[in-house]
Amino acid sequence: METTNHKLSSDEVLAKHDEYLFPSVVNYYKKHLVIDRGEGMYVYDPEGNKYLDFFGGILTVSVGHCNPKVTGKIAEQIKKLQHTSTLYQTENIVLMAEKLAKITPGALKKTFFTSSGTEADETAVFMAQHYTGRQEIIALRHCYSGRSMLAMSLTAHAPWRHGGTYIAGIKHAMSPYCYRCPFALEYPSCDLRCARDIEELIMTTTTGEIAGFIAEPIQGVGGFITPPKEYFEVAVPIIKKFGGVFISDEVQTGFGRTGKKMFGIEHWGVEPDILTAAKGIANGVPVGATIATPEIADSFTGLTISTFGGNPVSMAAALATIEVIEEEKLAENSHEVGQYLRDGLEDLQKKYPSIGDVRGMGLMQACEFVKENKVPDPELVGKLFEEMKKEKVLIGKGGLYGNVVRIAPPLTVSKSEVDDFLKTMNKALENC
Ligand SMILES: Cc1ncc(COP(=O)(O)O)c(C=O)c1O
Repeated sequence: METTNHKLSSDEVLAKHDEYLFPSVVNYYKKHLVIDRGEGMYVYDPEGNKYLDFFGGILTVSVGHCNPKVTGKIAEQIKKLQHTSTLYQTENIVLMAEKLAKITPGALKKTFFTSSGTEADETAVFMAQHYTGRQEIIALRHCYSGRSMLAMSLTAHAPWRHGGTYIAGIKHAMSPYCYRCPFALEYPSCDLRCARDIEELIMTTTTGEIAGFIAEPIQGVGGFITPPKEYFEVAVPIIKKFGGVFISDEVQTGFGRTGKKMFGIEHWGVEPDILTAAKGIANGVPVGATIATPEIADSFTGLTISTFGGNPVSMAAALATIEVIEEEKLAENSHEVGQYLRDGLEDLQKKYPSIGDVRGMGLMQACEFVKENKVPDPELVGKLFEEMKKEKVLIGKGGLYGNVVRIAPPLTVSKSEVDDFLKTMNKALENC
């Protein structure tokens, strides 16, 4: 292991954090964890303790921490040209846009680059409204879209909505959350009631002339809520019937995360009109992307700018990340190792009745923790996090009630690392 060049201990970092940063940041543990460096599947604190990372910086470090192929390309580019703004054109931005046109589903072709998922979703909603000349948007309960005013208005989780002044014209459809079906029905005899209800939602709560529907193929922050396989085939034609466009929010599900396919929505057999991406697109370098059909993209010719959007360094990182995903067949690895992880989690479920539901696809797997009668158990999840930290394994949290453990390691993960993870999870659960 090479030497680290940090100057502050964990305690010193935490003291300065308390003093100089806004306190409104998420912390999973009784005491914040400070991270000093990362390599592959592992991160290290300033004291040299090594942690197995099974959350990948919130599904963002898609090809492993400091992947040499990606950091090498970043270093090369940063020495050549760091920034131009979108006032000027560069080779990297056009190559990345061309790449996205090739790998995204259906007729998606033209991209607008920004620096976050929030901006990608804002751009998508704006384009849907501009293209249709309408305002109203359908979103899903339990969805998460980001932290701007529009994104918080789209987001359907009370704990993530702040301020109380929301953008009007957003209606939230029932979530395809089978474990807690909002209609108290069972799949498949439910006949996809949650999807069919969108028609009544539009007819009763909108003007009947909607701009579009934004949905995550798997609801990430919601706790990896995974819709039944027919969900989008029922929901999207209803949106089309009322003149809306379909925006697939792939901020979490993009770039091989769900296994086999490059984008989550490809598992559901429908083609989006707009797709948004961020997180895993550039292995941790800030990139947001909104990809649309040429008709939608070309409908807006007004002035707009994203100073950092499509920056040559972030585009070099994104190009290199996708190259690694393709060359190393990581979407396949996500499927295969994801299934192995899923089997292991289902074995744990047999042993621990507190695991009420195991769900997800590929390397996007979750366990929902409950007491009797499916009562959410966030306290148990809090204890589990402390135990996992003691054992030096990082996991993620989610769900409306904070009772879902999200497991999403870098796509480079191996079966033996999954074995280590499962062993630790078992031990941690025994100690809870
Ligand atoms: C599905 C989804 N959309 C949008 C966002 C917002 O992305 P960002 O935090 O990069 O603004 C997130 C972030 O978690 C997300 O999960």
